Amino acid sequence: MKPSTRHHFNYIVISSFLVLISACQKNESTTKTPFTNAAVKSIFDSKCASCHAASGSSSGEWFYDPTDYNTSIKNSIHDIYETVYVKKSMPQGTSLSASDLQAFKSWYDAGYPSN
Ligand code: HEC
Repeated sequence: MKPSTRHHFNYIVISSFLVLISACQKNESTTKTPFTNAAVKSIFDSKCASCHAASGSSSGEWFYDPTDYNTSIKNSIHDIYETVYVKKSMPQGTSLSASDLQAFKSWYDAGYPSN
């Protein structure tokens, strides 16, 4: 390869990499699955968001963002299930009503679907 051709080749390799990297980053920040499940979203919104949504005092313990199902629900489902259904330590200072607990458990057993 002539030096000038090699230079050109390197340029193409590097720019393809950059395109690939920016494509990945773009993908990561735009493909959020919203959490819209009718059976339980209202429970999370009314019983958890006050402390765990963006401006809540306990968002650092568990961050509830209904526009981001994977981070809020899927990746935290073990802790959510433990605190809400097993230990019943959440919502803090109270617990869900029997019918809310039943709705929560049915949703959990169904594979905690996002919608
Ligand atoms: C009144 C405020 C308040 C409400 C309402 C509340 N939490 Fe919490 N939550 C806290 C605090 C404070 C902590 C950290 C201390 C602790 O773990 O007890 C916490 C911690 C957590 C954790 C992380 C702790 C762990 O053991 O992993 C999860 C998960 C959680 N809450 C889920 C929930 C869910 C789900 C709801 C609604 C059903 C809820 N919380 C409602 C205040 C609250």
